[in-house]
Amino acid sequence: MDQSRNYGSIVTETAHYLPERIVSNAEVSELVDTTDEWIRERTGIVERRFLDQDKPTSHMAIQVAQSLIEKSDIDPLTIDLVIVATVTPDMVFPATACIVQAAIGAKNAWAFDLSAACSGFVYAFVTASQFIHSGAHRRVMVIGADKMSSILDMTDRNTCVLFGDGAGGVILDRSENSSNGLLDFLHCADGNDTDSLNVLGGGSLNPSSRGTVDKRLHFVRQDGRLVFKFAVRKMAEVSADLLVRNRLSGQDLKLFIPHQANLRIIDSAAEKLKLPPEKIMVNIEKYANTTAATIPIALSQACDEKRLQAKDLLLMTGVGAGLTWGSALYRWGKDCE
Ligand code: ACO
Repeated sequence: MDQSRNYGSIVTETAHYLPERIVSNAEVSELVDTTDEWIRERTGIVERRFLDQDKPTSHMAIQVAQSLIEKSDIDPLTIDLVIVATVTPDMVFPATACIVQAAIGAKNAWAFDLSAACSGFVYAFVTASQFIHSGAHRRVMVIGADKMSSILDMTDRNTCVLFGDGAGGVILDRSENSSNGLLDFLHCADGNDTDSLNVLGGGSLNPSSRGTVDKRLHFVRQDGRLVFKFAVRKMAEVSADLLVRNRLSGQDLKLFIPHQANLRIIDSAAEKLKLPPEKIMVNIEKYANTTAATIPIALSQACDEKRLQAKDLLLMTGVGAGLTWGSALYRWGKDCE
């Protein structure tokens, strides 16, 4: 990556929000033909959280934004940009980021959503870092939030067991030390395979109608096996490629935060990167796949557990619909307090 940037960027605060309602595998087993044992064995998921039906994704994103402001004691007027990564925005438009911006009184910020499914937070984090490194902005709020329960077909065992709702985010601040922050990233997409994982209805291709609803096009559908194979391959590949081109190996990392889609995908990546369990954040058993929120939730938990100190190397890798995949190598700038 071009190192001629002006400024470094440091994560000065992290926060996450999970809805209170816990939905166990046993509860899901009452709706579809599955078992707690199958879900645990094949995915590593034990339970997930579902947000109340009458609350939108912005509810969770706003909780995170308010928590970031309270914890870091910043003035919302000092925020230059709000990015929300999501595939479950409150509405087709306006952007959920605008709803968050208004709710927290960040009147000086511009705001937009970023749609890259399970790669959404890594894409958004790297995008935000560019605005800071270039000197355009001093402070950016980045949130990943998804209410997957709003697009789940609770009669389809191939998908409904996999996902949950949640949100997480960070405040990124300018640092005069340009060696802090994003060291490198590797982001990829292959739009030739939009069929393997999607929501077909509700967009301009299939505008919502009684017909699209009858055909259940407003729900997530996927080719689970194909997505699984793709994720196993790309999660390890993009992570390893990024490390190698920076002359690093798994041993140099303090922490690896992979997207949480399936414990078998995470274990396979960890094995290929030769990472011991203590270097990997895993919380899929409690929250399942919260799409754009898995990585920032895990990052916030890592900070709560004081697992990152200044100068530690962190690797975050996402893989998801699009198909999209990407990895960010980050030098942590400030001890977690
Ligand atoms: N309970 C019981 N049986 C099930 C369930 C379920 N919930 N879901 C599928 N099965 C059945 C299938 O119907 C199939 O039966 P069949 O052989 O009679 O056809 C059998 O289990 C085996 O199916 P596979 O797809 O081979 O099972 P696999 O071990 O691959 O696990 C899973 C399925 C968990 C969906 C896996 O493929 C996976 O995790 N894929 C990735 C999907 C994903 O994570 N998507 C999220 C978004 S993308 C991302 O985040 C990277």
